[in-house]
Amino acid sequence: MTKPLDFDQELIKKYDRSGPRYTSYPTAPQFSADYTAETFKRCVEYSNNEIIPKPLSLYVHIPYCDTICYYCACNKIITKNHAVTAEYLQLLNQEMDMLAPLFDADRELEQLHFGGGTPTFLNDEELQTLMQSIEQHFKFAEEREMSIEIDPRKVSNETIHLLAEIGFNRISLGVQDFDATVQEAVNRIQSYELVRDRLAAAREVGIESVNMDLIYGLPFQSESTFANTLDKVIELRPDRLSIFNYAHLPERFKPQRRINEEDLPTPAQKLNILQLTMEKLQQAGYVYIGMDHFALESDSMVKAQQEGTLQRNFQGYSTHADTDLVAIGVSSIGSVCDSYSQNSSNFEDYKARIEAGELPIVRGLVMSEEDRLRKQIINQLICHFHLDIQSFEQHWHLQFNDHFAHEITELEAMAKDGLLTIDDQAIQVQPKGRLLIRNICMVFDAYLQHNVVQFSKVI
Ligand SMILES: C[S@@+](CC[C@H](N)C(=O)[O-])C[C@H]1O[C@@H](n2cnc3c(N)ncnc32)[C@H](O)[C@@H]1O
Ligand code: SF4
Repeated sequence: MTKPLDFDQELIKKYDRSGPRYTSYPTAPQFSADYTAETFKRCVEYSNNEIIPKPLSLYVHIPYCDTICYYCACNKIITKNHAVTAEYLQLLNQEMDMLAPLFDADRELEQLHFGGGTPTFLNDEELQTLMQSIEQHFKFAEEREMSIEIDPRKVSNETIHLLAEIGFNRISLGVQDFDATVQEAVNRIQSYELVRDRLAAAREVGIESVNMDLIYGLPFQSESTFANTLDKVIELRPDRLSIFNYAHLPERFKPQRRINEEDLPTPAQKLNILQLTMEKLQQAGYVYIGMDHFALESDSMVKAQQEGTLQRNFQGYSTHADTDLVAIGVSSIGSVCDSYSQNSSNFEDYKARIEAGELPIVRGLVMSEEDRLRKQIINQLICHFHLDIQSFEQHWHLQFNDHFAHEITELEAMAKDGLLTIDDQAIQVQPKGRLLIRNICMVFDAYLQHNVVQFSKVI
């Protein structure tokens, strides 16, 4: 059975601090320019020579959006000029020309994800062209997971039909909030009926799984407005839900300066909204998977968590076995053979490098053994709320108590607060600690002391 969640407002207040979401460890601020395209090529070569090379995933970043949502912290380019995409598709094609031959030809593509920005900024013909280009460069596995982020305002039911035809079997709809006042304050107007119709179209064409993104902490949200939004979402019954805490970092994301801070819910209101969200979703049959994510009891994510096979990746959680992640497009992040690599986030620089016949990788990180073992702990805790200390010691040939003496002292303080239990056998996160899993993982983050200012609040 999935373990319950214990919502303890006092504890949440006590542990309220900034921290990473651990879609990677080490996290992106650790990436450095010492990692170059040459480093990446060596990592790929190494990955090809592993006894059993991993299958591949491909992430394609489409940065364009034609209007700005003020809250947005994604890597995007706002433009009304749809002519820009022809050049972008050309660049993606050239990037794949350079990348694909580096990987052994028998390594199959098991996962594909289009993210953004707004992938459906591309028109239907362009989506088809891009898919053909991917097929020309990579060999798809028979069984594959193909997912795409969809802004319901920027997609027609016909495009949803096309997406299914070209192989997409998972979609994620950006909903954020259904309240009209909230929508106006963040410059994103979309009706319930619109979302309902796009979801119906997705189901009609047999899309296997639909996720919806919501954000709590947006301007003018209150318990009652968010309760209404949740009621509508529950009525639509997406298979999965991502409920993000609004990361308000106006120094970093300029459009967020158009949101008045006095319109934001107070920390106390946010906690009430969060509590209400937890209660409502659990009553409606959703299981809390972990950091920001929920899924219906029947969803494969719940099964993967129960069976101990859930993974953490840049999209949040995944039921898919470990792959080497190839990433194309401006700002995209890949991960091959215990390393991370990131393309230039500056479009002109990205373009210039590709046109010069270079991979546009500008930074990254090769994990040390210490990084790898800490990553394993963080992934175990984030995905399964449990770490088997004995098998960890056997795997890494170390004494947990010696290696993590400092961390254990911190964990013991958390154990006193009821967040977890720890003994020689295991760390077990308790119902009170599940919402604070980010804080527990932060104990094992060796880089954090220097970094916290760059991250959003935990709750
Ligand atoms: C890359 S966006 C793609 C979705 C698509 N462009 C759309 O808007 O429908 C992915 C998700 O990130 C979330 N997001 C964006 N900015 C955020 C912020 N500042 N804080 C929390 N979540 C945010 C939103 O829920 C959004 O749907
Ligand atoms: S939330 Fe989506 S549509 Fe809005 S600006 Fe960000 S990426 Fe673009």
